[in-house]
Amino acid sequence: MSPLHVTRTLPEDATEAALRADVRRGLTDEPKWLPPKWFYDARGSELFDRITELPEYYPTRAEREILAARSGEIAAASRARTLVELGSGSSEKTRHLLDALTSLIAYVPVDVSESALTRAGQALIAERPDLEVHALIADFTAPLVLPATPGPRLLAFLGGTIGNLLPAERAAFLASVRALLDPGDGLLLGTDLVKDERVLVRAYDDAAGVTAAFDKNVLNVVNRELGADFDPDAFEHVALWDARHEWIEMRLRARTAQTVKVPALDLAVEFAAGEELRTEVSAKFRKDGVGRELAAAELELTHWWTDAQDRFALSLSVAR
Ligand code: SAH
Ligand code: TRP
Repeated sequence: MSPLHVTRTLPEDATEAALRADVRRGLTDEPKWLPPKWFYDARGSELFDRITELPEYYPTRAEREILAARSGEIAAASRARTLVELGSGSSEKTRHLLDALTSLIAYVPVDVSESALTRAGQALIAERPDLEVHALIADFTAPLVLPATPGPRLLAFLGGTIGNLLPAERAAFLASVRALLDPGDGLLLGTDLVKDERVLVRAYDDAAGVTAAFDKNVLNVVNRELGADFDPDAFEHVALWDARHEWIEMRLRARTAQTVKVPALDLAVEFAAGEELRTEVSAKFRKDGVGRELAAAELELTHWWTDAQDRFALSLSVAR
C-alpha cells in the first residue's frame, strides 16, 4: 500500500494568529460577524457530516446524484491524471469521480480540517492502493502550492462551498484557482441553485437542530482557542433568505443582553438582547451568473449538469 502523504501549509501558530485577527475584526465590527472556516474543527466536521444526511439538506444528495450519473462524461472530457479537491471534507461523493477517472495517478485533497483529511485519506489509501494520495492541510483562500504531480489536472470544488465566499472573495478565489491550472486543465464546480425560499431555509434550519449545533460550534472554537466565555445556549440559530443577494444568511442571535470576554484578545464584547452575529452566507446561483464569474477568471464553461429536480448544478469549465 502506498503511504498517505500529509503536508501542512497551515502552521499551528499561523492558524492561531489568523483566528485571533479574524475574531478581533469580526467581533468589533458593526454588525458583528465571524468567518466560516473556523466552523470546521473535529466536532464541526462531524456535525457537517450529519448535516449531509438530514432529510432537509438536499444539496449533498442532489450533487451525489449528478456525480453518479456524469462521472463517466467528466472523466472523458478531462482525462485527468491528477485530481485536486478543495474543501474535500470526507471525500465521500468524490469516490464516483475517483472510480471513473481511469488515467488517474494522484489525488490531492485540500482542507483546513486535519481530522477530516486524515480520516478520508486513510480510508482511501486502503481502498485504492494504486493511487498516490497527497493530503494538504491548507486554507484555500490563501495562495496554494500543489505537489508536483502529472497533468492534466482536474480541480474539483464541490458541496456548494463556493457559495460560502462573498462575491469579491469568490472573484479572487476563482482567479487564484485559474492560476493553479495550465491551459486545458479543468474546474469541476458544484453550485446550489436559486429555488423556493421555504426549501432553502429548511435546509439551513433543520428540525433536529443539527445545523443550529453546527452554527454554534464556532463559539466553542473561540472559547477553546482564545479562552472566551461564550454560552452557546444564550444564542439562537437563525437562517434567512436574502432575496437581493440571493444567499442564505446564518446568524446567531443573542437571546439576552450579555458581555462575552475574550481573554486572549483582551476584549470584552457587548451583545444587546436580540443582536445578531453573522456566521455564514451560502449563496445560491443561476447558470448565467456562474458562466459570467468563470469567464471573468478565464475559465470557459463547457458542461452544465443538474439533478432531476434542478436543485443543484455541477459545471465543468476549461482553463484558457
Ligand atoms: N466537499 C465536501 C465538504 C463540504 S463542507 C462535501 O461536498 O460534502 C466544506 C469543507 O471545506 C469542510 O471540509 C471544511 O473543513 C473545508 N473548508 C472550509 N473553509 C476552508 C478553507 N478556507 N480552506 C480549506 N478548507 C476549507
Ligand atoms: N457549503 C455548505 C452549504 O453552504 C456549508 C453549510 C451547510 C453550512 N450547512 C451549513 C454552513 C450551516 C454554515 C451553517 O450548504
